[in-house]
Amino acid sequence: MQRISIQQLTLGMYVEQIETEHSRTRMAKPGYVRRPETIQKLRQNGIKYVWIDADQLLSAEEIHYKGPLNKGKYASTGADIDQARTLIDTSKQQLSRLLNDIYDNKPIDVSPIEDLAGGIVDNIFKRQHAVAWISGIRDKSAYLMEHSLNVAFLLVNFGRYLGFDHATLQELAVGGLVHDIGKVLVADEILNKPGKLTAEEFDHMKLHQVFSQPVLDSIPDLSQIARDVSLMHHEKLDGNGYPNGLQGEALHTIGRMSGIVDIYDALTADRCYKRAMSPSEAFKIMMGLTPFHLDPTLLRSFIQCIGFYPIGSLVELEDGRVGLVWQENLDDITRPVVKIFYSVRSNQFREVEYIDLNRRHDIRIARATSEMALDIHVDAFR
Ligand SMILES: [Fe+2]
Repeated sequence: MQRISIQQLTLGMYVEQIETEHSRTRMAKPGYVRRPETIQKLRQNGIKYVWIDADQLLSAEEIHYKGPLNKGKYASTGADIDQARTLIDTSKQQLSRLLNDIYDNKPIDVSPIEDLAGGIVDNIFKRQHAVAWISGIRDKSAYLMEHSLNVAFLLVNFGRYLGFDHATLQELAVGGLVHDIGKVLVADEILNKPGKLTAEEFDHMKLHQVFSQPVLDSIPDLSQIARDVSLMHHEKLDGNGYPNGLQGEALHTIGRMSGIVDIYDALTADRCYKRAMSPSEAFKIMMGLTPFHLDPTLLRSFIQCIGFYPIGSLVELEDGRVGLVWQENLDDITRPVVKIFYSVRSNQFREVEYIDLNRRHDIRIARATSEMALDIHVDAFR
């Protein structure tokens, strides 16, 4: 990040923090300056300096874009998506090597996991949109790996939203990557069982937390934060969680965040036996788990962090058209750009079109929906 005076701030810059005479504040939603009025407003509010990410700068064409929406415009993040995808591929390879080493009882080296965590943190800062897309793409056959990566991404995003420092975010990412490490030692037929587990099978599954402990102990230099993510993500505020039945304050913020993120990813995952829930469907269920299981205040922050209509989620418009949230609108999060390709009126796919709801105030989102609710697959449109 770079500190510049408000006089030096120009259109297209990416602002992360603002500073007055007396205080420095992280933006709730860091973003590009696209309008002169934004700079004017900052000046009027007494902002003297801003902290920008000098690596991110919009071109004049991107700032002034006003023409009709077309695919080209929104495909402009293609390079970012490719880079994020490469990161995910390497991450999977490294993580799979790590899981194999644990399985084979080999000594574990934490440095590749730390590099991986560093890559995740950097990506979330530099390529937020691309990362949002990537975490929506899941590989059913390697669920454990996907889930571990997603939990790492979600934890870093959540931590960043709460204003945690970079070092903590890095440890959160490591924690996410190793959080279910004990599952490597759970019987395959239970780990990969399609559908609900019996009570006995569930008891066996719970053992993954018992198995995790010695594995974590055997990783040298693993931070307490990373350990806490792993050891606390199944604890509940009322003490009815496992493995240690922690209660109240003993289950601290990092542990509470881990529980929220773990459940959210499980609910919104596309598995062979169930389709993914939409974020808002998952949020509804999670609200029902407060306050005895999840922390209500933290859950509210998490919902704000993920957003009403996160990129890559499905929405239904009031006129029955259905599409994917394609681009967030920083001025009004309830009016994203939507890529339309289906209609619930005809129950048929239709020609693809992009609608910027911030320019079309006559159209509104009726509800968030999901592949499960519509009984369709939309991967081809991502
Ligand atoms: Fe777990």
